[in-house]
Amino acid sequence: NGIRPFSSSSVNNAIQNVTIVGGGLMGSGIAQVAAQKGNNVTILEVSQDQLKNAQNIIGNSLGRVAKKLYKDDTDAAQKFVQETASRIKGTTEVKEAVENSDLVVEAVIENMELKHKIFKALDEAAPAKTLFASNTSSLSITEIASVVNRKDKFGGLHFFNPVPVMKLLEIIRTEDTSDSTYEALLAWGKAIGKTCVKCKDTPGFIVNRLLVPYIAEAVRMLERGDASKEDIDIAMKLGAGYPMGPLELSDYTGLDTGVFIMEGWHKKFPENPLFKPVELQKKLVAEGKLGRKTGQGFYNYN
Ligand code: CAA
Repeated sequence: NGIRPFSSSSVNNAIQNVTIVGGGLMGSGIAQVAAQKGNNVTILEVSQDQLKNAQNIIGNSLGRVAKKLYKDDTDAAQKFVQETASRIKGTTEVKEAVENSDLVVEAVIENMELKHKIFKALDEAAPAKTLFASNTSSLSITEIASVVNRKDKFGGLHFFNPVPVMKLLEIIRTEDTSDSTYEALLAWGKAIGKTCVKCKDTPGFIVNRLLVPYIAEAVRMLERGDASKEDIDIAMKLGAGYPMGPLELSDYTGLDTGVFIMEGWHKKFPENPLFKPVELQKKLVAEGKLGRKTGQGFYNYN
């Protein structure tokens, strides 16, 4: 009759119900882009306050996306915002968050112990079919996956900030990730509108492996007094075509993030000079100058 039976891999490829663990800037962005493309999304957070925060981030960003898509057609813009938002729900219960989930994307802070605790609980609560992924930007996917039984159903999905704007998605496979899992992750990445690149489970994958040492070298340049911060940023914008200079970008992503990543890699790979922590970066972080989010980093935002 021409109707082909579902194979397990075609079921895997039809990811419809997605769970996002962590409703911060990255988690909210991932939830938003999935919902924009028709997925049913559940955000798992630790409190109602955190869920409210996620709702606010998504509300603001959806407004910007709607304006871009529908310009002066306010009715269509409103419909888009309402329909997208209606596909996103929140919960603080693990069981409820994953009971119907095809894919879980974890986007909590970069703490291996916390990620292990979360994935152990998810592994117990989620159906056998559910795929797991981490949005970690610097930790080993293999190490994160070490606590679950479904290592073949585990991979990395690394998004970029701001998620609704940045087109790239890095898709990472470990030695244990099965072909059908990897194909399903690639198909989902494409379905939510991202351009996907493949990478092995190596420190920083592609983008951060290049970007983090590049930013560190810009800070070393500033430390040595080779050039002013403004000129370093202008140079890379106009001389290399980057949308933001390295110091501006560091303020945007958070200096604490950069220092955390470098320190972690330096500990693991002490012989690699590219990963050597930079004093000025550490000093600014110690002073609470973390970038835009605290009003002061390399630049003042107050
Ligand atoms: N949600 C929805 N839309 C957003 C948005 C958000 N959060 N942020 C920006 N936009 C939209 C704006 O509404 C605007 O839309 P229009 O073109 O319709 O006006 C558009 O994006 C451009 O924004 P702005 O005009 O405010 O400013 P801009 O042109 O300078 O762009 C930027 C802002 C997209 C952030 C751009 O500067 C950029 O690409 N910067 C580099 C960002 C980057 O490198 N990110 C990667 C960081 S590394 C990382 O994330 C990895 C990690 O693990 C740490």
